[in-house]
Amino acid sequence: MAEIIDTRIEPDRAIESACAVLATGEPVAIPTETVYGLAADATNAAAITRIYEMKGRPRFNPLICHVSDMAMAEAHVIFDPISRRLAEAFWPGPLTLILPQRRESRVHPLASAGLDTLGIRMPEGFSRRVIARFGRPLAAPSANTSGKISPTCAVHVQDDLGPKLKLILDAGPAEIGLESTILKVESGRLRLLRPGGLDAAEIEALTGLPVERPDAAGATIEAPGMLVSHYAPGAAVRLNAVDVQKGEALIRFGNIPLPGESHAAVVLDLSPEGNLREAAANLFDYMKKADASGAATIAVGPVPSGGLGEAIIDRLQRAAAPRG
Ligand code: TXA
Ligand code: MG
Repeated sequence: MAEIIDTRIEPDRAIESACAVLATGEPVAIPTETVYGLAADATNAAAITRIYEMKGRPRFNPLICHVSDMAMAEAHVIFDPISRRLAEAFWPGPLTLILPQRRESRVHPLASAGLDTLGIRMPEGFSRRVIARFGRPLAAPSANTSGKISPTCAVHVQDDLGPKLKLILDAGPAEIGLESTILKVESGRLRLLRPGGLDAAEIEALTGLPVERPDAAGATIEAPGMLVSHYAPGAAVRLNAVDVQKGEALIRFGNIPLPGESHAAVVLDLSPEGNLREAAANLFDYMKKADASGAATIAVGPVPSGGLGEAIIDRLQRAAAPRG
């Protein structure tokens, strides 16, 4: 199993050990504010190949490059004025921008799956210190087997990829718990490729421009990783449940009881107080817990669709989609 270093107890050893492992071309699991990432040197082809192997990820699905500061970002991508404003306002934070890669950037084409754009973001939290010390961008998808639920704590990573990994940095539960919002600015239009931890309404408030949601077909082409079935637990998932069948696990929101829940395998409330931030932070952990209850089906009660609800419902719909 992987060594786990607690960044709150041994921050310096965490950074030095992570950089030493990364320098050998091996991935390291690192905590970001969204989810835990499986990070490797974005300029090293062999290191990126290890990420795809460990996750069992299709090679046509590009990785996000993580940077520690604007200067590192500028060295690899070209900012248009709107993207620059968004980066200045929301970085470090849960926003990934799709931008043209600079000719002189040494981020390896394997990281971008051969596209001429890079997905780039500056994460909040401990991972940013690792990137700053390493001095190069880290390519990092979520630290889970491809198609499975993203990890929001070190134990999730250890349970899934632990046997393949050398090192996991543990900074406690991820603050946001949902992956970053992915946005592409094109000819002055804002296109949402993935709803995520940054509420699209905040992007609209800053820019005064509408955030366009592509239709499902367009989304598949634009963000190759947005496969319909994703975030899949072992159990089947039944959305917008109005009651609970015997033996089902129940995930609900806002402390609204559902008929039949007294004979549920387990009842988990994403946020009894009805707070979408809290619900986002609990979502993946509760999906794993519901799955671990052994129930064949997870019933999910209604979740409001506004604000972060958009990203929560997106992940639930992917979890419920027919498995490919
Ligand atoms: O919060 C996050 O974004 C986390 C943490 C670790 O940073 N990372 C993450 O990575 O969610 P991953 O690999 O699970 O999702 C990356 C998504 C995929 O859907 C991929 O297709 C899209 O980003 N993507 C990456 N580069 C792209 C590009 N150049 N153009 C379009 N989509 C891109
Ligand atoms: Mg992922």
